[in-house]
Amino acid sequence: MTRIEIVLGDITAQDTEALVTAANESLLGGGGVDGAIHRAAGPRLAAAGAAVGPCDPGDAKATPGFELPPPVRFVIHTVGPVWEGGDEGEAEVLASCYRRCLAVADGLGVRSVAFPAIATGVYGFPAEPAARIAVATLGSTRTSVELIRLVAFDEEAEEVLRTALDDAQHPSGDGGAVS
Ligand code: APR
Repeated sequence: MTRIEIVLGDITAQDTEALVTAANESLLGGGGVDGAIHRAAGPRLAAAGAAVGPCDPGDAKATPGFELPPPVRFVIHTVGPVWEGGDEGEAEVLASCYRRCLAVADGLGVRSVAFPAIATGVYGFPAEPAARIAVATLGSTRTSVELIRLVAFDEEAEEVLRTALDDAQHPSGDGGAVS
């Protein structure tokens, strides 16, 4: 059984076996969450990214976590869609990011994965639909991962994720506890 939980904080401080980064296609590192993870993992992450890159939007590739503290063993690099208004297949690419990250995690045999809100920063994907896509995709993808942690970087993002998860788990809108 896979549990989806939401936390407010920095993804580099999460005690999961894998961290997902919202990368660009080169996998050489960038700003935002990618910059934070590359800073925490050290310079070998960019070299490892270069060795497995480039990565197409919607795909995911794994590298070691290098200097990220245990239990983090892997970084799963995924490339989200750049938001162009919503009619360019952005939703399908974002769903693919979440699906492929779980498939890569299963290939690595990890049981816990932390995700940022992929594509909702520099790439401009609106936070509410992105959260709904994340929760719907993660909740409907078969995986051996037991803990999926969605990491919100600010309280607004946290509220958006909690609402999306609650709506998905209580479609009748009857409210109820949110993990
Ligand atoms: N921990 C958790 N979440 C974070 C952190 C962090 N340390 N830093 C940023 N975030 C959040 C942002 O608030 C946003 O909600 O991650 C989400 C994704 O934002 P970006 O990092 O801008 O990623 P994205 O929108 O997918 O754009 C990717 O930006 O940094 C470049 O190289 C990257 O070109 C790529 C593009």
